[in-house]
Amino acid sequence: MNSSLIGWGFYVPERIVTNKELESYIDTSDEWIQERSGIKERRFFKPGKDTVSTMAAEASKKAIEIAGIKTEDIDMIIMATLSPDYFFPGSGVLVQRLLGLKNIPAFDIRQQCSGFIYGLSLADQYIKTGACKTILLIGSEVQSGIMEISDRGRDIAVLFGDGAGAVILQASEEPGILSTHIHSDGEFAEELYMKNPGSINPDFVSKQMIDDGELLPYMNGRMVFKTAVQKFPEVIEEGLVQNGLSSNDIDLFIPHQANARITEFVREKLGLPEEKTVSNIHKYGNTTAATIPIALAESMEAGLLKKGDLLCLAAFGSGFTWGSAFIRI
Ligand code: COA
Repeated sequence: MNSSLIGWGFYVPERIVTNKELESYIDTSDEWIQERSGIKERRFFKPGKDTVSTMAAEASKKAIEIAGIKTEDIDMIIMATLSPDYFFPGSGVLVQRLLGLKNIPAFDIRQQCSGFIYGLSLADQYIKTGACKTILLIGSEVQSGIMEISDRGRDIAVLFGDGAGAVILQASEEPGILSTHIHSDGEFAEELYMKNPGSINPDFVSKQMIDDGELLPYMNGRMVFKTAVQKFPEVIEEGLVQNGLSSNDIDLFIPHQANARITEFVREKLGLPEEKTVSNIHKYGNTTAATIPIALAESMEAGLLKKGDLLCLAAFGSGFTWGSAFIRI
């Protein structure tokens, strides 16, 4: 049995925040942001309306509709997010509730920007062993609430955005996921992380943390950049070799949307033409676990992929974690 991609959907909050708007809160410039990242605008959630789980449920409903299945056909929910509604439980069970599903396993994975690829890998194992037939896999993030929209948080605040994407994978004799390769190196955990709130502290959360700006994500941007441009090509090559393919066989490449410069570097390294490489970071910024399923759903809607095409996905992020997936559509 293969894990076939049969449904896709995405949801982004209505509120568009342009670089120009950020200029009014932060000492930054449209030029700086576009030059360094390719981002022009991103979406920020509407408090009281959007949460990680509600956005995920909206994306999931679209994926279910496209797949042409009944919601009750889903026998597992895998939720990738670094920004769950609650510290615990995870948002997977909240999506389960919103979809009106009972008793099936629903769980969160915390693999940050690589979350969707890790989720694909997990889903594929459950389907290949016959344990599950139909899996809902989601990436959803509300990051605008975690970041500080200020000069202090500016290196992060200009890069990230909110949104959700979902796919349905189903056991099939048709082609589907050909391979997934996932990796991690905890040596670099603190190069892109959010320390607080956390059980490592005597005080889980304190006013001091807020005052000292320690309740914010931290990123060593240069180190992340340097490692990402090395790991993306490596892990894609790993998949190509396993499948006996070359980069010429790739019909569409959807990398995690971390930074347009990273995407460009990897595209050139693979020798892929621009039209075979998806970049939507100018519209949404980096939505972490949601970038790939959003771009995938947009690509499907735009007719960029047809039956039999080879899709290559790859991601790199906090952990560090990274991975690739090859899917025959
Ligand atoms: N606006 C204006 N200036 C900013 C800024 C902002 N939003 N954020 C930081 N700066 C300043 C810094 O304070 C620093 O100033 P200094 O030189 O006076 O100390 C300067 O800009 C750093 O600029 P530069 O060295 O050109 O940064 P960079 O080329 O390394 O780009 C990143 C910064 C973050 C865009 C880049 O490192 C990057 O993209 N890293 C990878 C990030 C990523 O992909 N993360 C997600 C991984 S999943």
